[in-house]
Amino acid sequence: MHKKINWGIIGLGKIANKFAADLQLSDNSMLYAVASRNPEKAAIFSEQHHSSKFYASYEELADDPEIDVIYIATPHTFHFENTMMCLKKGKGVLCEKPMGMNLQEVETMVREARSRNLFLMEGIWTRFIPATAKLLDLLAKKVIGDILFIRADFGFKANFNREGRLYNKKLGGGSLLDVGIYPVYLSLITLGIPIDMKVMARITDTEVDGYCAMLFDYANGTKAILESTIEANTPTEAFIYGSKGSLELHSRFHHSEKITISQNGESEVVELKYNGNGYIHEIEEVNKCLLNREVESSKLPLMSSLDLTTLLDKIREEIGLRYEAKATTESKMS
Ligand SMILES: NC(=O)c1ccc[n+]([C@@H]2O[C@H](COP(=O)([O-])OP(=O)(O)OC[C@H]3O[C@@H](n4cnc5c(N)ncnc54)[C@H](OP(=O)(O)O)[C@@H]3O)[C@@H](O)[C@H]2O)c1
Repeated sequence: MHKKINWGIIGLGKIANKFAADLQLSDNSMLYAVASRNPEKAAIFSEQHHSSKFYASYEELADDPEIDVIYIATPHTFHFENTMMCLKKGKGVLCEKPMGMNLQEVETMVREARSRNLFLMEGIWTRFIPATAKLLDLLAKKVIGDILFIRADFGFKANFNREGRLYNKKLGGGSLLDVGIYPVYLSLITLGIPIDMKVMARITDTEVDGYCAMLFDYANGTKAILESTIEANTPTEAFIYGSKGSLELHSRFHHSEKITISQNGESEVVELKYNGNGYIHEIEEVNKCLLNREVESSKLPLMSSLDLTTLLDKIREEIGLRYEAKATTESKMS
């Protein structure tokens, strides 16, 4: 293993640019190579973000023996095939969210990584920002008592483009998998797995969920009220209400830099700045795991991704939203 972790990036779109900028902030990281389907784009990205190499093919990047871990930043529907390709070529993977289009895909990816003893993690950067560490600490210390219910929304108005990845069903379009995943993940890390759910969606004429409303019920009576949309700008805040007070994760809650703690009529605002664009914290987690020869993050274990995907599948089943599956016969669990 190198002293620095050599990163590769596949799919040079919006998020890849932000992530590459944060890689420069990490002492343990080197952006070794980038790959695009378009050679000119790869060359420009490489120059902008100072990578040693660039490739016009995702496979060629994954074949490079100098690379330790590959960040997959393609649209959702390609996460499975891109991750499987990299794992089969012996590379660790940080895969953007959602890890796969359904549980069958994610189970297959997890099984492949485990059978090869390779690192695999879903890119839920929220898990690693300072606000999440503070939130989990406050909840563990029962600062607001027992949780009664939580409320979280994530909404933004995307320009309508039937071919773009947000509205195009073939590219995994819809609000749930793009942004609804964050309120659902918040419910998972604060309340666990619900025993029941009620879900309603507004389906667009491209047949994806433009808006999704979710109500989860838990064995102890706790509730979660969650929303997502790509059709309107909504506050994108999260509130956790407890028997002794409440916590507010300020907007945008999935990369919040401020928590308000309210108790007995008094409120305290805690500032929790993240570094760079906020991706540096997940980058450092991956580096730490690789340097310690760990194939899974203890903060975001693969079980979390399996649980999250199970919930997303259940929600989609409730609203009748089905995508073409990429995982075929090879994905059947043994
Ligand atoms: N963690 C976060 O904060 C965050 C934020 C935004 C998005 N994301 C996730 O990151 C992924 C990418 O999102 P993005 O907003 O960066 O998307 P984007 O700007 O559209 O970029 C996606 C890239 O994927 C590649 N690609 C491969 N096959 C493609 C195809 N058939 N159509 C379009 N692009 C294709 C393209 O790169 P090349 O042309 O270079 O091959 C494209 O630039 C999504 O899964 C999303 O959920 C995460």
